Amino acid sequence: MAKAQKTFACSNCGAVYRRWQGKCEDCGDWNSIVEEAAAVSGAPKGLSAKKGRATQLVSLDTPIKEEPRTLTGIGEFDRALGGGLVPGSAILIGGDPGIGKSTLLLQAMGALSLRGEDCIYISGEEATAQVQMRAARLGLAGAPLKLGCETSLRDILTTLDEGKPPRAVVIDSIQTLFADHVESAPGTVSQVRVCGHELITYAKRRGTVVFLVGHVTKDGQIAGPRVLEHMVDTVLYFEGDRGHQFRILRAVKNRFGGTDEIGVFEMTGLGLQEVNNPSELFLADHNSREPGSAVFAGIEGSRPVLVEVQALVARSSAANPRRAVVGWDSGRLAMVLAVLDARAGLGLAGCDVYLNVAGGLKISEPAADLAVASALISSLAQVPVPEETVVFGEISLSGDVRGVSQTEARLKESAKLGFAKALMPSGKKSAKKSTIKGIEQQGLVRVTDLVAHFFPEGVA
Ligand code: TYD
Ligand code: MG
Repeated sequence: MAKAQKTFACSNCGAVYRRWQGKCEDCGDWNSIVEEAAAVSGAPKGLSAKKGRATQLVSLDTPIKEEPRTLTGIGEFDRALGGGLVPGSAILIGGDPGIGKSTLLLQAMGALSLRGEDCIYISGEEATAQVQMRAARLGLAGAPLKLGCETSLRDILTTLDEGKPPRAVVIDSIQTLFADHVESAPGTVSQVRVCGHELITYAKRRGTVVFLVGHVTKDGQIAGPRVLEHMVDTVLYFEGDRGHQFRILRAVKNRFGGTDEIGVFEMTGLGLQEVNNPSELFLADHNSREPGSAVFAGIEGSRPVLVEVQALVARSSAANPRRAVVGWDSGRLAMVLAVLDARAGLGLAGCDVYLNVAGGLKISEPAADLAVASALISSLAQVPVPEETVVFGEISLSGDVRGVSQTEARLKESAKLGFAKALMPSGKKSAKKSTIKGIEQQGLVRVTDLVAHFFPEGVA
């Protein structure tokens, strides 16, 4: 037998090296390469030595036997998954420690088991009594969910292989598992890779849905193994601000659905509650009479969501005024500030600027440009945004207000929530105006049109 060779792997991205080095060439991370025991010693020299089995090939036009998706009964969870659970799929759920991953999965499995499905929850972090206590607090004490407390992959697979395959299995968390044929500590790249691979293979083999919980490192990656992200069918992130009670479940990869859907939850004393109308939640404390606040009519996935954008602009004597952003891209803010300065002469370069998206939501749509600009100009002018008004539109570097997608959905949601007016692009896209009742549409062509709302006598 060949001598076991030492290998080195990057604990961030999983790239493998023959010798140690300070920087991973794959992901550029420093000091992330660690030694691992090679899992396979004496690998076959060539594949021709032993003949494999021929794989059965099917034609694309063969009729498929489509298994229906299973709904968990937690609407927001099913929505983020793209419409329920697909049999045999492997789903990775990442998130900061303490954000509520275990709570979410316990509730989902509890709900699923109450619908008569066979579900197993395996915790490698908590004792069964702890999980039971939590379940009791969540009102799930009577759910026929099977609990296990185990970290050995071999024992877990043996347990799962007994009898009829369950509908769904939760492994909380993948970092606590260990495979006894791999010589490294739990949580290392090789352990996570082997355990992940085995569990995903199990999912495909038995048609069970496997949830893998993964902790996220400080810089926002699912600890170590980005390798897992490639292997699983779906990657969900559970995000939110610990200071806020809102939690957002976001799909970042989904082989069986869109990746732009979000599920919104609220963490309460009785666990996670679904939020069916996020706009109401994000606008709960909105005060339209204050300068520096604008309501953005955004789209998250297929759903319109109204959020409040707050800005504070203050003259500064510092050489480098402060710029602080929460919930939006700071590069995009710099761009909007530059356009407002260059095209409307607002002189924001000499101001401290603070921008905040209320409620802990992160916006990534360019359509928020105009809402951000409104909040900024409103704060600078000390004039509130007109009452009951929503704002949306993209701003180009030339200072034009550009059209955005799904105008109608944005307007409908705004009208539904009692807004009477929309400041929006007046491009061709929004040409079919009169279609939405109850909301006045005010089209803007250039950012200067927006500035004129707040500085009717011109910028001093
Ligand atoms: P948990 O699901 O253990 O987080 P994770 O598995 O992502 O590490 O969530 C723990 C947090 O949730 C904890 O700080 C308390 C809070 N929590 C509530 O506010 N209400 C509840 O009913 C439960 C069960 C937890
Ligand atoms: Mg947990």
